[in-house]
Amino acid sequence: MYIILFGAPGVGKGTQAKLISQKYHIPQISTGDMLREAIRQGTELGKKAEEIIARGDLVSDDIMLGLIDERISRPDCKNGFILDGFPRTIKQANGLDRLFKEKKLTSPVCIEITVPETVIIKRLTSRRICEKCGAIFDPVGNPFPPDLKCPQCGGRIVKRQDDNEETIHKRLQVYHEQTAPVRDYYRQFNKFYSIDGNRTVNEVFNEIEEILTSVFQQA
Ligand code: AP5
Repeated sequence: MYIILFGAPGVGKGTQAKLISQKYHIPQISTGDMLREAIRQGTELGKKAEEIIARGDLVSDDIMLGLIDERISRPDCKNGFILDGFPRTIKQANGLDRLFKEKKLTSPVCIEITVPETVIIKRLTSRRICEKCGAIFDPVGNPFPPDLKCPQCGGRIVKRQDDNEETIHKRLQVYHEQTAPVRDYYRQFNKFYSIDGNRTVNEVFNEIEEILTSVFQQA
């Protein structure tokens, strides 16, 4: 079960990836979380990525492809994985295709989630995350506790440094220029689905489950 969750910043990729991961017992591979962890640990990659993420640009394709190659080669990926935030450019999509061929994996299901930009901006400016485990909070669906301690791991709940309005606009611009063409890349294949993400988390998840059930029944 190889799944790509695709869509603009804030459409709910991370939220849905966590639910899919829990239900199907396959790992969520979030390139954004991997980069934030590298920043937290002060690694060479983290030092390079910090400034790029803060301004809303993309980290280089070669670095991202190297990270993904290493991550999907680990044993926990043997029954499948969910890519959240990757691929984000045509070069990354081509590179992923090569990796799938090299590793003889069946082609991935690509699910695009769409949400109007006004809703995205509202969601991202009010989002908080746990800096340790990456849990996602919002004031309505999953409010954060007043002591700002993550109920799951005790980590600090913070606002992401790229969740300010100026950087959100930049991330949306980068999405339209560099990531949106990836949609057409996956649309040529027969395992591409586009769903409305401007509904409750459960409604979105139910539709994803229906898609996955029908795809894997056909396989
Ligand atoms: P990344 O962390 O991937 O950020 P993103 O793509 O901008 O996506 P987000 O995490 O902001 O949003 P999401 O779609 O996961 O939404 P979420 O579920 O949190 O990347 C960050 C940066 O890292 C990039 O800008 C880039 O610099 C770098 N990077 C990462 N990958 C890279 C790559 N492949 N190549 C190069 N650079 C890369 O939901 C958002 C909010 O909405 C939450 O508060 C949530 O609770 C709420 N919410 C979710 N669903 C619903 C719903 N149905 N109804 C109401 N609220 C909802």
